[in-house]
Amino acid sequence: MELIVVKSQLEGAKKCFDLLNEAMAGGAKTLGLATGSTPVEFYNQVVNSGLDFTDMTSVNLDEYVGLDGSNEQSYRYFMNKHFFEEKPFKENFLPNGKATDLEAEAKHYDQIIENHPIDWQILGIGQNGHIGFNEPGTPFEATTHVVDLTESTIKANARFFEHEDEVPKKAISMGLASIMKSKKIVLMAYGESKAEAIKGMIEGEKTTALPASILQDHAHVIVIADEAATSLLSK
Ligand code: F6R
Repeated sequence: MELIVVKSQLEGAKKCFDLLNEAMAGGAKTLGLATGSTPVEFYNQVVNSGLDFTDMTSVNLDEYVGLDGSNEQSYRYFMNKHFFEEKPFKENFLPNGKATDLEAEAKHYDQIIENHPIDWQILGIGQNGHIGFNEPGTPFEATTHVVDLTESTIKANARFFEHEDEVPKKAISMGLASIMKSKKIVLMAYGESKAEAIKGMIEGEKTTALPASILQDHAHVIVIADEAATSLLSK
């Protein structure tokens, strides 16, 4: 893993934007995308750039179960607002959180990932070390699956909802095995609340108790993190 320490989220977003530029210049056609607060500044950089995505495909990591794209808390809504409305793609894929048969939807999403191998994946990281919504304990072999969100994730995401009890309890997420198939990965982390997870991911043992530690086995991972998020690293 390569680590780039930055002074601010804005500096990190600009670095990430440079890496995206490089990836697209090198022929990347399918982007793996994330939601949450971590990539917002990066998406701002992208929508204010001259980059053209009309020949590109995006595949998102996850979606809440029970929310459709018209719901402001859904990840589809988030992506439309922060990225796709400004920069149209050839195709945008997110899991369908309103599917009546969620198991079938998971299989269908795996097929989508297989048909659109991800060239360049961006990730955030949960305070508990999750990536996508692969919570601690998720097997490293997991493909797309339905997830029971942990208390820690529900609490962390409650800031986007009026009340904590409005946070959906389930999500559908790309699995760790699918994330590992991405050719290149850029993970961003900002703030002290991510410091434990970043330490475990980089310096800890590889364990399903900290899902992001699987990235130690990936040949092309760049971590962009600020000083607070890297404050617990020993070197
Ligand atoms: C979002 C996702 C999650 C977030 C993580 C960090 O699509 O897959 O893994 O990246 O929960 O969230 P923020 O960026 O809000 O701290």
